[in-house]
Amino acid sequence: MQAYANRLISRKKSIAFVPTMGFLHEGHLSLMREGRKRGDVLVVSIFVNPTQFGEGEDFDSYPKDLERDLELARKENVDVVFTPDKVSLYENGFQTYVNLEKLPKHLCGISRPIFFQGVATVVTKLFNIVKPSVAIFGQKDYQQLAVIKRMVRDLNFDIEIVGAPTVREPDGLAMSSRNNYLKPEERLAALSLFESLSKAQNLCAEGVLDSDRIINEVKKLIHSHKDSKIDYISICDPDTLEDIKTIESPVVMALAVKVGKTRLIDNMIINY
Ligand code: PAF
Repeated sequence: MQAYANRLISRKKSIAFVPTMGFLHEGHLSLMREGRKRGDVLVVSIFVNPTQFGEGEDFDSYPKDLERDLELARKENVDVVFTPDKVSLYENGFQTYVNLEKLPKHLCGISRPIFFQGVATVVTKLFNIVKPSVAIFGQKDYQQLAVIKRMVRDLNFDIEIVGAPTVREPDGLAMSSRNNYLKPEERLAALSLFESLSKAQNLCAEGVLDSDRIINEVKKLIHSHKDSKIDYISICDPDTLEDIKTIESPVVMALAVKVGKTRLIDNMIINY
């Protein structure tokens, strides 16, 4: 892949890159469409990255269907699907990781302490292998996008990072490969994430600006669904992800909820 990228660059071709963990859905396809517009050659990687999964998480059971993924990528006119294996990316003796100091200490980083180290490390490796001029990430993983943007600035990667809007099912559920785990009754309960974000937006529009009050309302809504356990609900600064007590400018509301055994995340910018 790296040799191929070098050849493309020597022929003055620009590379647009969409990193994924596979089991592609409409959300990934929208990232590919964005990438297609932004580079001469579109590369998609499929790699379930072991270093971003903690103990007891779903690394072993993460859904996979390479044949279907390749077919979907072909339909989106992807030029290259890069599918490295675990051993070639993390060979024996691997010991170098990328860590950010502050952003991972919020939101998902609290219950998934090694997640962002794993993401920052694998994305750095993929950037060095694929050599893109632009890379596209989904806004659904808001904190991941913030981490990647910060890392690219801090480490002077010569890569433009583009955030693409969350793609939702018609009823509002954000698309995710993990939606596949949901049983029918859990699928209904999973709607509470989008309902919570919409409720917060409405409350704010009605003049409720106290974050604790909004979060308490949202908690009631989520707990009205059986088998839903809140990991976190946060109203925070869009750049630093620090909690905001009173809404006085646009904020991000982000939440993670475990529905049955499936942990789902979602977020929305709430305009003041
Ligand atoms: O968002 C994902 O699918 C993954 O976290 C990523 C960016 C491909 C890194 O493994």
